[in-house]
Amino acid sequence: MTDLHTPQAGDDHAKDTDVVSLLMRQHGDIRNLFDEVEATTGKERQDAFRRLVRLLAVHETAEEEVVHPFARRSLPGGQQVVEDRLAEERAAKETLADLDEMDTDDPKFLPRLQALRTDVQEHARAEERYEFTHIRRSLDVTNLAAMAKAVKAAEAMAPTRPHPGVESGAANMALGPIAALMDRTKDAIRKAMGQP
Ligand SMILES: [Fe+2]
Ligand SMILES: [Fe+2]
Repeated sequence: MTDLHTPQAGDDHAKDTDVVSLLMRQHGDIRNLFDEVEATTGKERQDAFRRLVRLLAVHETAEEEVVHPFARRSLPGGQQVVEDRLAEERAAKETLADLDEMDTDDPKFLPRLQALRTDVQEHARAEERYEFTHIRRSLDVTNLAAMAKAVKAAEAMAPTRPHPGVESGAANMALGPIAALMDRTKDAIRKAMGQP
């Protein structure tokens, strides 16, 4: 039932040429996965939470590699804007790592998840307001597309719904430590951007 609620990341191919549309769609996917975790229990919740952890880890890593460096260099007051976003991302990652150690049916799990959700959504709104708007105004189509390509390479590591029968290697991989997933994501992004 739950896979009907959350479209697969990458379904909307038309928007893949604009990094801002792509990241805003991921903000929506993250919101949907929070809904899915909250609405389920047991094995279903474990699965939905696992997909949420992956997408959050991959999304934040992509922003750190692709969006924040540009914002830091190019936006008015960019240094401070990025410092604020990075502080929020660090706090979210710590909560995420704590939650990742918990049993998803532990009575303390949902209240912590909801606190994380509030923080993540405030963070996303701040990115949209202070970074994304400026990025779209200051970059041309070619640059928006090059950044989108790098974010897509990252997204391939975070399926938002199960693929019964046709799982890719990435979808089947056990989550492993979040830090390891972030490292693999960084490598995929740097390769897509043509950096060593
Ligand atoms: Fe972020
Ligand atoms: Fe974001």
